Amino acid sequence: MANPSLLILAGDGIGPEVMAEVRKVIDWFGTRGLAFDVTEDLVGGAAYDAHGTPLTDATMDKAQSVDAVLLGAVGGPKYDVLDFSVKPERGLLRLRKEMDLYANLRPAQCFDALADFSSLKRDVVAGLDIVIVRELTSGIYFGEPRGIIEEGNERVGINTQRYTESEIERVARSAFELAMRRGRKLCSMEKANVMESGVLWREVVTEVGRDYPEVALSHMYADAGAMQLCRWPKQFDVIVTDNLFGDLLSDAAAMLTGSLGMLPSASLGAPMANGRPKALYEPVHGSAPDIAGTGKANPIACILSFAMALRYSFDMGAEADRVEAAVEAVLADGLRTADLLGEDGVQPVTTSEMGDAIVAKLAESV
Ligand code: NAD
Ligand code: IPM
Ligand code: MN
Repeated sequence: MANPSLLILAGDGIGPEVMAEVRKVIDWFGTRGLAFDVTEDLVGGAAYDAHGTPLTDATMDKAQSVDAVLLGAVGGPKYDVLDFSVKPERGLLRLRKEMDLYANLRPAQCFDALADFSSLKRDVVAGLDIVIVRELTSGIYFGEPRGIIEEGNERVGINTQRYTESEIERVARSAFELAMRRGRKLCSMEKANVMESGVLWREVVTEVGRDYPEVALSHMYADAGAMQLCRWPKQFDVIVTDNLFGDLLSDAAAMLTGSLGMLPSASLGAPMANGRPKALYEPVHGSAPDIAGTGKANPIACILSFAMALRYSFDMGAEADRVEAAVEAVLADGLRTADLLGEDGVQPVTTSEMGDAIVAKLAESV
């Protein structure tokens, strides 16, 4: 049987730095007889520099044909002046849209060793294990009309929040299915008090919920949800929300785990011929231009994104557990990249040292 195929798009800023550490993990599995067919290509600013576009058609075709895509991060100040149509972020948005990756799973798990590194109290975050399911291919990110137009003697910036019933239904179903495999609790977040799209969202999620009577469904306005996420996040199991709210809530949830450098994600679409979902895996964080090139980036979010690929795309749950356990073990040993440092005087390790330590733990585990 052919090896599973993986397209790596490291991108910009710290993207290539954290991806280099994922390569160490992939290579370690290779030495254990679990080889992947890895192809690398450009995305974001790196693709723009080489080809004048943040994603070439050829790269798009490759992404469509592999078992899974692993992405680092895109963007950076150098590209801020570019026209919207060629900004690095457009490359990522095109991948999500054309691969139809509508369900973005963003788990926020607080490892025990990091419970004192959150900006919230230990009690609030210790043992936290929640997943935000973010709708990823619609909503205000993609709605038409959009643009900046002239109106009278001034300019108007326009974006449109738009959701069809079927778009809400499919992401709700993904969230209910996930809740069934976890704590059987789902909280849906929108702004049904002020937005029609929120009213429809609440109605459709409630309808889908009739197929999942074992799941306790609740609804919250997204602003109150943001507050509850900081007040007592352990009340949640799975949260389902739209594209923009999911973007904001997941960055906020990152701080429950200690750092944005800890949060992985899986963007999943409909099943392919092999029964596995179309999928792209990426850390929740961005290209972190403020620390790029300094060896300070935390590679754990990207490594845990690869663990999610093992679980969701390759049916390798035991291997995914093994990667997650290796991450937990290095943290328990006290290893910290600079983003995870509190006041206790621990010396940070570099991006590369963190990757090496995780691979060493993997090796110990056999
Ligand atoms: P960011 O996530 O890049 O950084 C926010 C803060 O978190 C920074 O202080 C950064 O140093 C820190 N940080 C992020 N990841 C870290 C890691 N792995 N280890 C240690 N510290 C980390 O967000 P931003 O600064 O708002 O955006 C920078 C660029 O990244 C922008 O161009 C933005 O569009 C892009 N971006 C891309 C993605 C993506 O590719 N999926 C996601 C978010 C932002
Ligand atoms: C994320 C990022 C992206 C988003 C950008 C880079 C397009 O912030 O993946 O969270 O807004 O979805
Ligand atoms: Mn984001």
